[in-house]
Amino acid sequence: MEITSLKLINFRNFSNLELNFSKNRNLIIGNNGEGKTNIVEAIFVLALTKSFRTNEDDILIKENNNLYKIEGNIKSSFINNYKIIYQDKVKVVKINNNKINKLSDYISNIQVVFFSINDLKLIKDTPNTRRKLINLEISQLNNNYIKYLNYYNKILKQRNTYLKSTFNINKSYLNILDEQLIDYGLKIFNMRKKFINNINDIISNIYNKLGGKGKLFIKYKSDYDDLDKEEILKIYNKYIDKDLNLKSTQYGIHKDDYIFYIDDKDIKNFGSEGQQKNSVIAFKMAELEIFNDTNNDYPILILDDLFSELDIKKIECILDYINRDIQTFITTTDLKKVKNKYLKNSKVFQIKNGEIREDFYE
Ligand SMILES: Nc1ncnc2c1ncn2[C@@H]1O[C@H](COP(=O)(O)OP(=O)(O)OP(=O)(O)O)[C@@H](O)[C@H]1O
Ligand SMILES: [Mg+2]
Repeated sequence: MEITSLKLINFRNFSNLELNFSKNRNLIIGNNGEGKTNIVEAIFVLALTKSFRTNEDDILIKENNNLYKIEGNIKSSFINNYKIIYQDKVKVVKINNNKINKLSDYISNIQVVFFSINDLKLIKDTPNTRRKLINLEISQLNNNYIKYLNYYNKILKQRNTYLKSTFNINKSYLNILDEQLIDYGLKIFNMRKKFINNINDIISNIYNKLGGKGKLFIKYKSDYDDLDKEEILKIYNKYIDKDLNLKSTQYGIHKDDYIFYIDDKDIKNFGSEGQQKNSVIAFKMAELEIFNDTNNDYPILILDDLFSELDIKKIECILDYINRDIQTFITTTDLKKVKNKYLKNSKVFQIKNGEIREDFYE
């Protein structure tokens, strides 16, 4: 899959920008604050309808304007045109100029694997961050996932509101909510489990190829593990006093976590900085393969500012690993860090004061 062109209107620091990309490597070069991340952020928003660095779309609108537009042509078997227009708190998404009413029907058409320096902290971060990342990835693979997640969160909210509102619970009402919660929860649990199993089939091998030692795997930790609906329902009943005390649902897949291990050591507590970073890199590389296995097409790969956090050797290891039919975007402040070998067949975009100069290296 590749993005052949991108058009931005009033997105971040760009009033009006039109770029045509290489199907191989695209390097976006510029000093700090010139808008490198803004460009790859636009590609991310085009794919997922929201940004990785803010939940507020108003922030994405160029200062002193009232709307932003992102448009891109995406080539897989065919070329399709995608558009996102945000104005007056309303977001409209279109495929080939047809308005798509549900965002969940739009997402999963464009697949992106995005990798930034923040991701390198994934293992140390909170379970919530890890859940968000995995949600994002599975939503791109299967659009039912977002639908189930939306239903689950809606019922969970309803249940928590009910717990807050009463001391005298109506057991049969709660039971109905619990059953619905578990039905969607189990669907989500199974999709997460399958995804992690698929990752585990290949991640250790990739980790070793990238120079890591030992066996890397991810343990999917969930309250639902190994239980069926009846058993989970019993646990909800058993914990009802605790839930009422704390006025929220203590048990369920909204508490899931993903723990990275090398051999039998949990990397969050026992791993070095380098092992943590390398494990995340292997995870992202494994994702490329999972996307390719699912869609018979590699996703678009974005590496935002990795050069500032990783040593040259590691970066070259990554660039060699992805030296295949994968459209790649790399942002960096310093083109000198990129060896000539990697400039071959690349398009270079130099940003300065909102203007872009293009070069092509043959
Ligand atoms: N809504 C907006 N309107 C106008 N300018 C914006 C808006 N949002 C962000 N900017 C500007 O965009 C710039 C940041 O862009 P970006 O994060 O893409 O920089 P960068 O080139 O990736 O820098 P770095 O090398 O530090 O990562 C800032 O100068 C900021 O002022
Ligand atoms: Mg940046």
